[in-house]
Amino acid sequence: MKSDWFKEWFESADYLKVYKHRDISDAGKFTKTLLRKIRIPENSAVLDAACGNGRYSVLLARKGFKVVAFDLSRNLLNVASKYARKKKSNVFFFRSDLRQVCLKKKFDLILLAFTSFGYFENDEENFKFIKTSYGLLNEKGYFALDFLNENYVRKNLVPYSEKTIDDILIQEKREIHNDTVVKEIIINKGGNKKVYYEKVKLYGKDFILKQMKLIGYKIVDIFGDYEGGEFEPGSSERLIIVGRK
Ligand SMILES: C[S@@+](CC[C@H](N)C(=O)[O-])C[C@H]1O[C@@H](n2cnc3c(N)ncnc32)[C@H](O)[C@@H]1O
Repeated sequence: MKSDWFKEWFESADYLKVYKHRDISDAGKFTKTLLRKIRIPENSAVLDAACGNGRYSVLLARKGFKVVAFDLSRNLLNVASKYARKKKSNVFFFRSDLRQVCLKKKFDLILLAFTSFGYFENDEENFKFIKTSYGLLNEKGYFALDFLNENYVRKNLVPYSEKTIDDILIQEKREIHNDTVVKEIIINKGGNKKVYYEKVKLYGKDFILKQMKLIGYKIVDIFGDYEGGEFEPGSSERLIIVGRK
């Protein structure tokens, strides 16, 4: 598998089919919980990092925030800008790699939603954006990371599953190697077969917290689902960490 698997996978139109269930209502739940917890004023500047199809960017812009968003995938940025235009939402989108973000503007909230973390070859690269974000925050600004809960993934890994969406058979095979969850996604369209990979390093809560504290963040909240439920190491599906500058 290529180390830059994420370029091909997120550039493909198939990504949004496979993750169809990660939709606006899913993003709405998390946004509502997060904003209830951090209470930033309207007009605050928000950065939606690795914004994907823009589901969070548009929701946040519609709440009155000034939203800047970026992603590496040209396809997803296209989908996101079209969606923002359709919803008459003002979002500034740009293309960037998480490891090379260059911005002069500062933010009151930076969001890294839905497992957009742990894709790279080493800790330095993986934590680079969290480090960059610290410098991009206004004083007392927030950084919110929505990541998987490694214990939950290890305990509940489903080695194989398949589903059919719009007459396309999607087969997903999952394995854990070297503390990394590797997923092979096989898309069968008619007689055509395409194979993609996903690879996410299974960082645990303590390690992430330690790195965030070393960068300088104060940890202000940790929760385990989009409703704001307590983080239970053995059973929470998500690990959501909110740090503050
Ligand atoms: C699982 S999706 C989450 C998208 C979005 N945050 C959401 O909640 O729908 C991961 C996103 O990270 C983006 N991404 C992957 N590698 C990236 C990189 N090196 N730099 C910037 N974005 C990247 C993908 O294009 C994709 O949009």
